[in-house]
Amino acid sequence: MGEHRNWPERLHVVTGKGGTGKTSVAAALALGLAAGGRRTLLVEVEGRQGIAQLFGLDPLPYAEKRIATTTGGGEVRALAVDPEEALLEYLDMFYKLGAAGRALRKVGAIDFATTIAPGLRDVLLTGKVKEATTRSENGRRVYDAVILDAPPTGRVGRFLNVTAETARLAKMGPIKTQSDGVASLLRSPMTAVHVVTLLEEMPVQESLDAITDLTALNIPVGRIIVNGARPALLTGGKVTKAEVKRGLTAAGLPASAAAVSQLTVQAQAHLTRRELEESLRIELAELNRPMVELPLLPDGVNMSGLQDLAGRLLRA
Ligand SMILES: Nc1ncnc2c1ncn2[C@@H]1O[C@H](COP(=O)(O)OP(=O)(O)OP(=O)(O)O)[C@@H](O)[C@H]1O
Ligand SMILES: [Mg+2]
Repeated sequence: MGEHRNWPERLHVVTGKGGTGKTSVAAALALGLAAGGRRTLLVEVEGRQGIAQLFGLDPLPYAEKRIATTTGGGEVRALAVDPEEALLEYLDMFYKLGAAGRALRKVGAIDFATTIAPGLRDVLLTGKVKEATTRSENGRRVYDAVILDAPPTGRVGRFLNVTAETARLAKMGPIKTQSDGVASLLRSPMTAVHVVTLLEEMPVQESLDAITDLTALNIPVGRIIVNGARPALLTGGKVTKAEVKRGLTAAGLPASAAAVSQLTVQAQAHLTRRELEESLRIELAELNRPMVELPLLPDGVNMSGLQDLAGRLLRA
């Protein structure tokens, strides 16, 4: 089916500060990009089973499993990449370990390997993502797009910077080949790292820092996705008690001194928050990158909420 007009990359990495909506946005993007008969893969790498929780499923095995269908015969598959399984798969590919691989797991060789070389863990995880992104069957790509629910902003640069981390580990051989392959995919136009943020100080600061890091690593930054945006209830810079009183009276509501003063405080707090949000929005806009805003869903991120977010992402 090929690339989507608005989201031409093949590998979409979704990061953001913890709790800003990475998993929700990644899932919505996977659904949106699967519309119209495409096939997408939604991947998680942190062993959190966040995808299964979001879709109300049993924990995902280390296998690509269909979790949703879309219009025109499209589908979303999901995969929870486990570093231990990825290591066994990888060793098997190069050394045909078979039963020896299972024995290896029993003696804890995997723990050993990933503890002794923390960088190895990340190459195994990103290596699996690369394999899925570039996999072909019968001369056709298996996935039109792969969406990675990535580690949070504070760790994403290191996670994606596989070459530097593994250069110390392997100067040659299959691990070196694998990490070079991952590094070049991540630095190619096939990849975009999207940053999810809320209009709050800490997430915005972490987003700015992550974008600086990724840019320095030559990893392409995609969109800034402002999640949980709230509609403006009021405009202007200040609310006075007189205005509130007039408003209440005009609406035929009782305008006791207590009601007026309570409402004025609330309205002023709302405006102050709007001002802060607006200044954060400007800071983000100054990066000159494509931005999308997603609303705070009143009923949380259920299936229809995900569809709503998917539609907004795809139109953006
Ligand atoms: N647009 C939204 N509207 C309403 N609720 C939202 C929205 N986006 C996310 N949430 C809720 O916010 C919480 C955090 O979202 P999510 O799990 O997607 O974030 P995360 O960045 O993946 O978190 P973590 O860092 O823990 O993995 C969840 O309860 C989710 O349902
Ligand atoms: Mg998550």
